[in-house]
Amino acid sequence: MCCSPTSLCSEIIETHVTVRAPTNIALIKYWGKQDKYFNLPLNSSISLTVDIKKFFTETTVRFLPTPDIIFYLNSKKAVITNRIQQVINAIKIQAEPKLRHNGLCIISINNFPTAAGMASSASGLSALSFALAKLYQINVTMEELSAIARLGSGSASRSLFGGLVRWNKGERHEDSIARNLYEKSYWPELRMLVVVLDSRKKKVSSTDAMMRKSDLLMKRAYEVVPENIKSLESAFANKDFAKLCEVVMAESDSLHEVINESGVDYLNENSYRMKAMVNFFNIPTTRAAYTFDAGPNAWILVQKSEVKNFLSLILNHFLIQYDKLDLEENFDQHQFKLLQGYAKRKIEKIIETQVSNTGPIIKPILEKL
Ligand code: DP6
Repeated sequence: MCCSPTSLCSEIIETHVTVRAPTNIALIKYWGKQDKYFNLPLNSSISLTVDIKKFFTETTVRFLPTPDIIFYLNSKKAVITNRIQQVINAIKIQAEPKLRHNGLCIISINNFPTAAGMASSASGLSALSFALAKLYQINVTMEELSAIARLGSGSASRSLFGGLVRWNKGERHEDSIARNLYEKSYWPELRMLVVVLDSRKKKVSSTDAMMRKSDLLMKRAYEVVPENIKSLESAFANKDFAKLCEVVMAESDSLHEVINESGVDYLNENSYRMKAMVNFFNIPTTRAAYTFDAGPNAWILVQKSEVKNFLSLILNHFLIQYDKLDLEENFDQHQFKLLQGYAKRKIEKIIETQVSNTGPIIKPILEKL
């Protein structure tokens, strides 16, 4: 059966939904599972949802009259994994019986590199859960939907909301849910610089890496993370940016210590250089934080007033084409040329982004924004 983004199973029933969902960057990282089937995490986590205009997955779901389920990811036919199937089942079980027999066509596109440690599963599975909930017209709260998205991918539970989001680890399927802690408007000066050092697909997925044995994992989940959560929540409550940066970097380091101990290293030479640059930038006052997910690309947290200062530091060390700077405001071309005179190592792209004020959105609504 045909199901390409252009033909879109068009001979079939008209009903379809297209949504866009944002990705998120974890400041307190999820790592390790207490329950594999329900995908319950070992620890709670906290993230910032990333501007939906910059990073998103767009997903169209459409009913088919046959029982088939067809999935296209980035224009290529893809496998329906058990985890995707679990999401579909969790939605279908709440749908009207007459809709349950239809098959499905799912078409999903990321506007940024897939499986490169840039949280594509977060936007992908939250887009799918949201789109299916609309298609099957089920009556759920966003918190309940976050539990369904979690079945597909843990980090996806947090992408159902904008702003700062906390996913409570819970002990059962029903209580392992995410909710918004602060809206974007609470701290509008926050910015992230996504420094793309290597956009290739990673060799070990985060799902596989977090199932590996690591002696440090339990200590991290039960002692380190709860303390870091307290510090991060207090830094947010007091809008204490320096304290926020300290805890964000400590978290990222703690995650990668556990990962390294299990025999995987997601960071590359340039990731370590980025860390060193942030440390240098932070003398004598902490003005930026690095954080790395399961990949080498650096996410730099800064306030709006420091974006150009930090950027100048990076451009002094890394070569980049001017058109690969995706910034909120222009960077002076003359200054760019001067800085590039010293730079030696290449990076792919730098994207400046704000925090998202929204979770997933139905596409026509988005287009009116
Ligand atoms: C390092 O959500 O991709 O990005 O639940 O197995 O799909 P699964 O894992 P996934 O793991 C994300 C790990 C992380 C940290 C985080 O986003 O909290």
